[in-house]
Amino acid sequence: MLRIVVCVSGSGTNLQAILDGIDTGRVTNTELTAVISNNAGAKALKRAEEHGIPGICISPREYADRETFNRAFTEELCRRKPDLVVLAGFLVKIPEQAVAAFPNRIINIHPSLIPSFCGVGYYGLKVHEKALERGVRVTGATVHFVNEGMDEGPIIAQKAVYVEDNDTPESLQRRVMEQAEWILLPQAIDDIANGRLTVADGKVRRKV
Ligand code: GAR
Repeated sequence: MLRIVVCVSGSGTNLQAILDGIDTGRVTNTELTAVISNNAGAKALKRAEEHGIPGICISPREYADRETFNRAFTEELCRRKPDLVVLAGFLVKIPEQAVAAFPNRIINIHPSLIPSFCGVGYYGLKVHEKALERGVRVTGATVHFVNEGMDEGPIIAQKAVYVEDNDTPESLQRRVMEQAEWILLPQAIDDIANGRLTVADGKVRRKV
């Protein structure tokens, strides 16, 4: 059984997709043991509570400096002993010590086709604003392992989504979630839980 901890910051629709995946059997061999948020008001924490899953808030605001927060966050993760940490709309940079403690055991969903529209400053709705500003006709989502860089780890899966002429950042965000994110993230967890992926030389391969 793959024990996962999910980290969230806001609405938690990706968390919901994972919960639904486990409930309906599309995600197997997986136990969601805790949800961690940097934001006490996150709707995602409510979703966890409704599922009887422990929700924990660790906010950088409650710590004297970033280093102290980083230590507390990493300690909390380690205390939970997850096999996999899932960043499902977690808008805080993962501390290097957490990456070192969980090598190739942290995954993230990003709402674009990496390497487009990613890195520092590209998160949430901003990603879709930038995509529309640039006028791309195709965007999408990416699930990747997390390393020390920002959105730079080995790519697990990507799915393309068409941009429509009258899209707003909000309508595009919704379509990318519906057509890509809510499918890709549960699928990646199921693949990892069932030993279907390997990582070597910074590349992810699917076992045949
Ligand atoms: C999602 O679109 C996710 O891809 C994005 O934040 C949103 C969270 O929505 N993550 C990033 O931008 C990470 N760089 P949700 O709380 O409804 O799942």
